[in-house]
Amino acid sequence: MKLLAINGSHRGDKGHTRHLLDLVCQGANEAGAECEIVSLAKYKINRCLSCGECHEAEHNLQCAYHDRDDVASIFAKIGQSDVVIYATPVYVFGMSGLLKTFLDRLYSTSDVNQMMLTHSGLLFHHIDHAVCSKPFVTLVCCDNLEDETPRNVLSYFRAFARFMDAPHMGELVRNGGKLAGYGLDPEKRKKFPRLEKVYAAYIQAGRELALEGRINQRTQRIANQEIIPVPFFKILKKFPPFKKVMLVRAKEMMA
Ligand SMILES: Cc1cc2nc3c(=O)[nH]c(=O)nc-3n(C[C@H](O)[C@H](O)[C@H](O)COP(=O)(O)O)c2cc1C
Repeated sequence: MKLLAINGSHRGDKGHTRHLLDLVCQGANEAGAECEIVSLAKYKINRCLSCGECHEAEHNLQCAYHDRDDVASIFAKIGQSDVVIYATPVYVFGMSGLLKTFLDRLYSTSDVNQMMLTHSGLLFHHIDHAVCSKPFVTLVCCDNLEDETPRNVLSYFRAFARFMDAPHMGELVRNGGKLAGYGLDPEKRKKFPRLEKVYAAYIQAGRELALEGRINQRTQRIANQEIIPVPFFKILKKFPPFKKVMLVRAKEMMA
């Protein structure tokens, strides 16, 4: 079983996203899977120029950058893996520019003149199933506590799953990163006792991916829980009057 994680953080191996991916890989390795983390920040990823060259008959779905950057080699890694994790921090309500730039290059692998119907009944053009339809997990992290913050990224990958015929094997959503010192600060970790459970769930998610190819709902619930030590915080934060309490609490915790 081979798990490939695509890390879209511009901070690469030093970031929070990488820390979360390391936990998943720890679990996957323990369960016997092979794990590789590709931090896009370390690779040369050119942006699609929309030049259309890849869709001209003589270029046969080969991007103009084919042998001039690292995208083709990362696509090949996706092709050879069993499950992919698309991981990104939220950057101004969306995925990182790096991950989006990378994913835009999938366009060059599709014959846009050939139409098809996806398994979920959507009209779409031809895609390279070996790369686009790989079972995948979304991992998104952010600082803000509002559910609105990671929504666009989650929605993007839900659409991706349906258009690309790619089985969606789980969603890991971690908010409050800054508040909790990104889980790396031992003092902050004491203030957020739930973090230990959250990180244990990330390790468990890795185990489940290795053994079952998907993350169980229960594990996702634990991994995605609120870390603020206030009972029913997830429900309370939906009510505007509670926002003031939340603000005071957040300020205290960041101090
Ligand atoms: C350019 C940029 C934009 C960001 N925008 C948001 C945002 O809209 N909402 C949010 O909660 N966090 C935002 N963040 C914070 C990151 O999502 C957060 O710190 C994340 O954990 C960083 O992951 P990393 O350490 O792997 O890079 C932004 C960070 C950067 C650098």
